[in-house]
Order: sequence, then C-alpha cells, then structure tokens
Amino acid sequence: MKLKVAIIGCGKAAERHLKIYQALRDEVEVVAVSDLDPQKAKAFAEALSAKPYTDFQEMLKMEPIDVVDLSVPSGLHKKVGEVVLKKFRKNLLVEKPLALTLKDAETLVNLAEKFRLKLVTIFQNRANLPIIKVKELLEKGLFGKIVLLSVKFYWSRRQNYYDSASWRGTWAYDGGALAQQGCHFADMMTYLLGEVESCFAKMGTYLVNIEAEDLLVGTIKFKNGALGTIEATTCARPKDIKAEVVLLGEKGSAIIGGFAMNKLDYLAIEGIEDAKSLIEGFTENPANPLGYSHFAYLKAALEYFKNGNRVPFLAIGEDALTSLELIIGLYESAERGREIYFPFKPKLCKLGKGV
Ligand SMILES: NC(=O)c1ccc[n+]([C@@H]2O[C@H](COP(=O)([O-])OP(=O)(O)OC[C@H]3O[C@@H](n4cnc5c(N)ncnc54)[C@H](O)[C@@H]3O)[C@@H](O)[C@H]2O)c1
Repeated sequence: MKLKVAIIGCGKAAERHLKIYQALRDEVEVVAVSDLDPQKAKAFAEALSAKPYTDFQEMLKMEPIDVVDLSVPSGLHKKVGEVVLKKFRKNLLVEKPLALTLKDAETLVNLAEKFRLKLVTIFQNRANLPIIKVKELLEKGLFGKIVLLSVKFYWSRRQNYYDSASWRGTWAYDGGALAQQGCHFADMMTYLLGEVESCFAKMGTYLVNIEAEDLLVGTIKFKNGALGTIEATTCARPKDIKAEVVLLGEKGSAIIGGFAMNKLDYLAIEGIEDAKSLIEGFTENPANPLGYSHFAYLKAALEYFKNGNRVPFLAIGEDALTSLELIIGLYESAERGREIYFPFKPKLCKLGKGV
C-alpha cells in the first residue's frame, strides 16, 4: 500500500518536495494539496495528479491521508500543525524549524506523543554523506574529547528574496539569518555535540531592510565542555560562498565544507595514516537536482511513517527542540547584551512573537 500524503503550503520548499514525491511515486501517493493561493494549489495538483484545496481543514476532512507535509511559513507551523495533530490526528512531516518559540514547539511534540502520532522535522543536512560518517566517527570516540565546534555559513540573500513573500525576515513568522537559514547550523551543533550550557551573541541588520538580523555571531559553551562558534549570515556578496563545520578533538579533526556542509575538506585522526579512507564514498554529496539531502531525508522520513523504521539522522519529536532552544538563547543574548545560561526564560527574544 502506498503512503497517502497531503501537502499544506505549495511554496518554494514544497517545490523540492514535489519533485521528490514525483520520483518516489511508486511508494507515495500525494492525494491532495492545499494553498491559500488557488493558482499554486492548482499547479501542484496538476503536477502530482492530486486534488487541490485552498482550505486545508476541508482537505483533511475530505481526503484519506496518512501523513501531512507542512510547508507553510515557519510562524504558522504551530497554528496549522496543532489542527493537523489534535483535530485530524494525522502524522506530521514539518519543514524546519519545528516552530519559532519553545512553547509552540513543545505543544506540537506533546500533541504527537499524546495521540501517538509521528512527528518529523526536516533537517536534511543531517543526511549529508560526510555528516553521517563524521558523526559515526565522533560517536565511536575517534576524535577523543572535543574542544571546538565551529560552524559558519556565508550565504547571499538580497532584498528581492525578502520582498518575495511578506513573512520573510519578520520576527513573528521567520526570524533572520539564524532562525531561517541558520537553524540547519544550530541543529548541526546540537546534533553533533548535544546540549548547551551557555551562549553569547551579537547581531545586526546590515545589507537589507528587514526586521530581523542578516548577521549573527555567537559563542557557545556545550555541557560536554567543548566551545563553539557560529557565524550566521546572508550578507555574502555577490553570491553564496560556503557553509562549513569545523570539529577539533584531542585525537582528530574534521572540516566539512562545500555550499551546505556536504563536502569533506579535511579529516585527520591520530594513528590513522589515511583517515579519509575511513569515509570513502561518503566524502561528498553527489550533485542532485532534488537538493543535496532533501531526497534522502524525505525518503527516510516516509519509511519511518510507513513502517516505523527510523534511521539515526531523523529529527523525531523532541529531537527538534534542543537546537531551537539554542537559537532562542542566541537571540536572547543579543537582545540582552549578556551571556545566557541554560535553561532560561526568554524575555527579549522577538522570534515568533506577535503571530
Ligand atoms: N529545509 C530547507 O532547507 C528549507 C528551505 C526553504 C524553506 N524551508 C521552510 O519551509 C517553510 C516554507 O518556506 P517557503 O520558502 O516554501 O515559503 P513560501 O512563502 O514560498 O511558501 C509558503 C506557502 O504556504 C502557503 N500558506 C500559508 N498559509 C497557508 C495555509 N493556512 N494553508 C495553506 N497554505 C498556506 C502560502 O500561500 C505559500 O504558498 C518555512 O518554514 C521554511 O523555513 C525549508
């Protein structure tokens, strides 16, 4: 039996999903799609031989569905996701970030638990081939004690990107470089090294006219003792430069670069002459018209929805909370001008406020 999926939100992110569903048409049937914009719903419906709706509740009432793919603006994930889980009791595949406040994200996690529904947040970079292997080596202890995890992305988003939809760059529905693009990198930090003890950040809006930041620089102390840094920016000009993870441990180091943490640039481990050979075949994501790892991630998520088989990289339920707390901590620090010690009560962080 094919898994029956319905899409809510037929925008840019969902365009990638659409191609993946087309490629997986033997395993998945997209039965219906919805968007407030009837033209978008119609175009998706035609491409997927699905039924178009403008009212997602009407769609969920009418259609037999196993999984809802939620790709609406981030600030709406909680409002729509809550209806999907609570009123219609459907499994939920949600684009990152799960929500914009911890309270909202916890509401979704708790509802899924309460109704025994599956909830997966899409953090596709976890499925990048070099990330999978470096994480494996890390868990085997081959790097020894980790001292530094540094992530940075220098990407380019100009005013026309922010002007392409009214929610982009707003505190209520999106956030800036850290919450929007950088949630992949915050997630990578906590995915690799776990919980955070404290953080400190500075941010600013430099090259575009938006509410939120286009540059944030932060330092982090992890509970395991390691230090971390994050440079999150969409200010690279004239174009995207790179996105990189640097891991330094007492016995070895790794640098994963490329445009999206998808290419192994450096790997050395004490006592192993050719450490790179440990991850032969996993050093670079092959060029993929479906987006680097979205395909692998969605395929794994769909398998989990269908048979309950989970691969380690899936962000299931509360797995999405740790990095959200880090994002909120960094914003809170930038607003307060001081270091934030976890757990904390956000007071000045504007992310997700006023929806
Ligand atoms: N994983 C990734 O790398 C990645 C990349 C891009 C975007 N995203 C995430 O995907 C989400 C959507 O981003 P986007 O760039 O596709 O935005 P978008 O503006 O292109 O698309 C959002 C769509 O949702 C529709 N929508 C809004 N409210 C709705 C409702 N109640 N019912 C039905 N449709 C509704 C809008 O009309 C719009 O077409 C965001 O959370 C974003 O963070 C993830």
